Amino acid sequence: MTFIRMAQSLSFVMVVALLAFSPLCSSQASGSAYLYPQFYDRSCPKAVEIVKSVVAKAVAREARMAASLLRLHFHDCFVKGCDASILLDTTGTMISEKNSIPNRNSARGFEVIDEIKSALEKECPHTVSCADIMALAARDSTVLTGGPSWDVPLGRRDSRDASLSGSNSNIPAPNNTFQTILTKFKLKKLNIVDMVALSGSHTIGNARCTTFRQRLYNQSGNGQPDFSLVHSYAAQLRTRCPKSGGDQNLFFLDFVSPTKFDNSYFKNLLANKGLLSSDQILTTQSAVSLELVKKYAANCELFFEQFAKSMLKMGNISPLTGSRGVIRKNCRKINT
Ligand code: HEM
Repeated sequence: MTFIRMAQSLSFVMVVALLAFSPLCSSQASGSAYLYPQFYDRSCPKAVEIVKSVVAKAVAREARMAASLLRLHFHDCFVKGCDASILLDTTGTMISEKNSIPNRNSARGFEVIDEIKSALEKECPHTVSCADIMALAARDSTVLTGGPSWDVPLGRRDSRDASLSGSNSNIPAPNNTFQTILTKFKLKKLNIVDMVALSGSHTIGNARCTTFRQRLYNQSGNGQPDFSLVHSYAAQLRTRCPKSGGDQNLFFLDFVSPTKFDNSYFKNLLANKGLLSSDQILTTQSAVSLELVKKYAANCELFFEQFAKSMLKMGNISPLTGSRGVIRKNCRKINT
């Protein structure tokens, strides 16, 4: 008898507690809903295929587009999470992240995302997020250039705003110190292994003269080039990256195989032929990262395996899920 009463009052207390906390619990539940690859299997079964075919066409038109799309996902995820904030254009009340120092005259691929989005809006209106499109396009770009594949968890939603200041401060700069870059990764819950593996993205794509000029002429303010850059390679780079002018001239990040996703980026680093300072410091500033570079240079499979794991981690940075965020109809604009 007493036991039954105790049980009854205990369950009453539990119900009261549940009711008292339910608003918090429900908002947490929708906020922490997780991403999974089958997210569009019922609502838009062709979504993954459509993204792949538009990316394939775009990369066939211009090989560099694979690199540009891969980088777009990175520059999105490091600012307020993978929420497509990078795609929003400037309005009367918001300045686009496209104007930030890392993105201005640099981030590209927006038209390809538009093309994917309009194909998806035709197939299944108001269903597939711009943030998921970027995550899929980054994976497809990696595969198309010869890199590893992975199942992309889906279900991200899009932001209603952008952060110019976040874009300027969170994305690592090519002249940042090793520690600063590592701190920027750690703030996104990525570690040194992720940082080295993801830097391996620089096995494809280009960089402008302005991003590495300092290394060629005046690395530390004493009028001397960066000693960690091989003389002959520096001399070659100087011919098209003069002391002044030619800021936008393009150079391959991996001069050995610039459109092939492989491990030659790491081999170049070991030969002191990294293009950006942020590339070369992976071998000069930390014994741990040097060991990782050696491992990936010696074993491409190991690099591919870690790259896929780290891309999954990066793609999972603070996604908007459940009732948070929206599905934008046009990736450049907030829905009206
Ligand atoms: C570790 C810190 C990093 C720094 C400092 C950095 C910096 C840069 C810079 C300066 C460029 C050349 C941009 C230009 O001249 O317009 C570039 C290009 C590129 N970055 Fe990074 N990056 C980093 C990490 C990453 C990560 C994590 C990814 C992808 C997961 C990535 C993917 C790329 C790609 C693919 C390109 C070539 C883009 C193109 O050709 O359009 N980078 N990066």
